[in-house]
Amino acid sequence: MGLARLDGRICLVTGATSGIGQETARGLASLGAHVVIVGRDRNRAESARKEIIEKSGNPRVDVLLADLSSLAGIRGLADEFLSSYPALHVLVNNAGTIELSRTTTVDGFERTFAVNHLAYFLLTNLLLPRLRASAPARIVNVASEAHRLGRIDFADLQSEKSYSAMRVYGTSKLLNLLFTVALAERLAGSGVTANCLHPGAVSTRLGKHNGIWAKLLIGLLRPFFLTAEQGAANSIFVAASDELAGISGKYFVKQRAVAPSRRSQRPGLARRVWARSNDLVGLPG
Ligand SMILES: NC(=O)c1ccc[n+]([C@@H]2O[C@H](COP(=O)([O-])OP(=O)(O)OC[C@H]3O[C@@H](n4cnc5c(N)ncnc54)[C@H](OP(=O)(O)O)[C@@H]3O)[C@@H](O)[C@H]2O)c1
Repeated sequence: MGLARLDGRICLVTGATSGIGQETARGLASLGAHVVIVGRDRNRAESARKEIIEKSGNPRVDVLLADLSSLAGIRGLADEFLSSYPALHVLVNNAGTIELSRTTTVDGFERTFAVNHLAYFLLTNLLLPRLRASAPARIVNVASEAHRLGRIDFADLQSEKSYSAMRVYGTSKLLNLLFTVALAERLAGSGVTANCLHPGAVSTRLGKHNGIWAKLLIGLLRPFFLTAEQGAANSIFVAASDELAGISGKYFVKQRAVAPSRRSQRPGLARRVWARSNDLVGLPG
């Protein structure tokens, strides 16, 4: 795959206590990186850390704890990272959720929107000065082919008028694409790239907290799904492939840049999403 060694590089991976994120962290550790994994549960995070160290043979794996559904949690994570690490070379925004019914976060946002989009947006913005100072650096946003189901309704971003789990999830993934496009535009010439990707249909814990029927359905589909290790291959490729040096603003499927949905390329939409997200998380304009 033409992956660069990452010795001496610092990588931050969210959602690394399970599935694609854990395997991505393991892959980056195997390439020699100093990997900081983010989890919200101390036990799960410590056991992921132990497993990543055992499988990669690299002891430089640290844990930071944060609930990414909370703006205060994201700010606390960024502060802790910035005060503990001198550089950031690879940020993998990976933590995600799908919610069968609508629930809200401590800040009053619809949960999927908050975890899948606002957390990517706020964490990246808070870490951006450190990424710029560490260039060449890469931002990797884990999106999904489900973005093709997404619709941006600026009058109902919190899905209060109507809620359908797949549409809301698809919209959050469309937001990942739009965020990547606007971010790449802002970062042009900085030495920091931003790309996003679809990992494939992967057997993970995604959606399993939604009750017995969701668990059963996911279990039935399991034979058709990729393993987490296979699913992480695309994230590792986008984070570390030599051939992607300087490439930014692209969407990758199976290690190839592909055209995302037409909706994600609508002129002005990415900038409008950026401005609204900026207001929602309370960043200066
Ligand atoms: N699986 C697929 O087929 C598929 C397809 C396309 C895209 N994706 C994307 O891939 C990414 C990873 O998903 P996965 O399939 O690996 O799912 P997963 O096994 O459920 O892993 C999700 C990760 O996100 C973390 N997370 C969820 N809510 C969080 C919160 N509020 N605060 C902090 N961490 C939180 C989870 O932490 P806990 O361990 O604490 O729960 C877990 O580490 C997601 O962005 C998803 O949308 C997955």
